[in-house]
Amino acid sequence: MQQPNILLTGTPGVGKTTLGKELASRSGLKYINVGDLAKEGQLYDGYDEEYGCPILDEDRVVDELENQMKEGGVIIDYHGCDFFPERWFHIVFVLRTDNSVLYKRLETR
Ligand SMILES: Nc1ncnc2c1ncn2[C@@H]1O[C@H](COP(=O)(O)OP(=O)(O)O)[C@@H](O)[C@H]1O
Ligand SMILES: [Mg+2]
Repeated sequence: MQQPNILLTGTPGVGKTTLGKELASRSGLKYINVGDLAKEGQLYDGYDEEYGCPILDEDRVVDELENQMKEGGVIIDYHGCDFFPERWFHIVFVLRTDNSVLYKRLETR
């Protein structure tokens, strides 16, 4: 049977990257951080002056991931989720953290 694809999503600072890497090291599944993938491949579509960050080219990210997702066994880490095809994932985890904890984490970041 094909290995499952897992989506870890949720607000920045909730622990997606920490959990995703830990899960990958224990399960042997492949961990992919979409932010890093976009940076490496420059999968951007302009720059958001208001937020001071590049705008993700969602279509190119989906194209880039398609073959690996078809194969299975991938853990995806990203704070957004609406542009991913539903068919990719066997299970989706939305991580949450108490706002007071989250505030301190993002402040130190
Ligand atoms: N389960 C947890 N318990 C306590 N601290 C955590 C936990 N998961 C992550 N953290 C801490 O919270 C911060 C943000 O985690 P990170 O994995 O980078 O979040 P995200 O990838 O969602 O932005 C880091 O300092 C990390 O060490
Ligand atoms: Mg992260």
